[in-house]
Amino acid sequence: AVKAKIAPSMLSSDFANLASEADKMVRFGADWLHMDIMDGHFVPNLTIGATVIESLRKHTKAYLDCHLMVTNPLDYVEPLAKAGASGFTFHVEVAKEYWQELVDRIKTRGMRPGVALKPGTPVEEVYPLVEGENPVEMVLVMTVEPGFGGQKFMPEMMDKVRLLRKKYPSLDIEVDGGLGPSTIDMAASAGANCIVAGSSVFGAAEPAQVISILRKSVEV
Ligand code: DX5
Ligand code: ZN
Repeated sequence: AVKAKIAPSMLSSDFANLASEADKMVRFGADWLHMDIMDGHFVPNLTIGATVIESLRKHTKAYLDCHLMVTNPLDYVEPLAKAGASGFTFHVEVAKEYWQELVDRIKTRGMRPGVALKPGTPVEEVYPLVEGENPVEMVLVMTVEPGFGGQKFMPEMMDKVRLLRKKYPSLDIEVDGGLGPSTIDMAASAGANCIVAGSSVFGAAEPAQVISILRKSVEV
């Protein structure tokens, strides 16, 4: 069976204290740190880029699960690889013409490729990327419109997760947006195993407890 990965989204952290926030999440039981990279073009918000990943890498050995909400992901492969990124998840909406080259470069540079889809994108669009000769290793199903933390979970996205899990029993399926103790059971029973959670973890009085609740729901 697929292993649970709990990935606090650092978008909800205090960016002025990123290293200590990251360290805290690892101590609280996080498996991965989810890093939201935005370009102010693919989404109407701007966050961090390779420079910040490089700085954070000097302070942590954690798996940095980078989610690229950018229009030109090819431009980020080299800088992010040098910066020490672990996972590189790009959006299918922008990479239809060149995803094979992109996946190839991500792997060549030692990162783990994943593909993300927005709520309005049909799940069929990622099938070729999972089934290709040189496949992605994770599918990220967005459960909010990308761009901001703290939005409401879209339960209708669980149909996509169910279809993916049925087709690909051992695939890593990540959900991102509005996940927390009140929505995790929907995601876990649909078959998601990688759980991104920003505001529900960082906003909690006891983040470690939230991380453990998320893990237990997935591992049931
Ligand atoms: C949204 C980002 C998410 C976001 C999730 O564009 O991709 O990773 O940080 O935040 P919450 O868990 O608060 O919805
Ligand atoms: Zn994200």
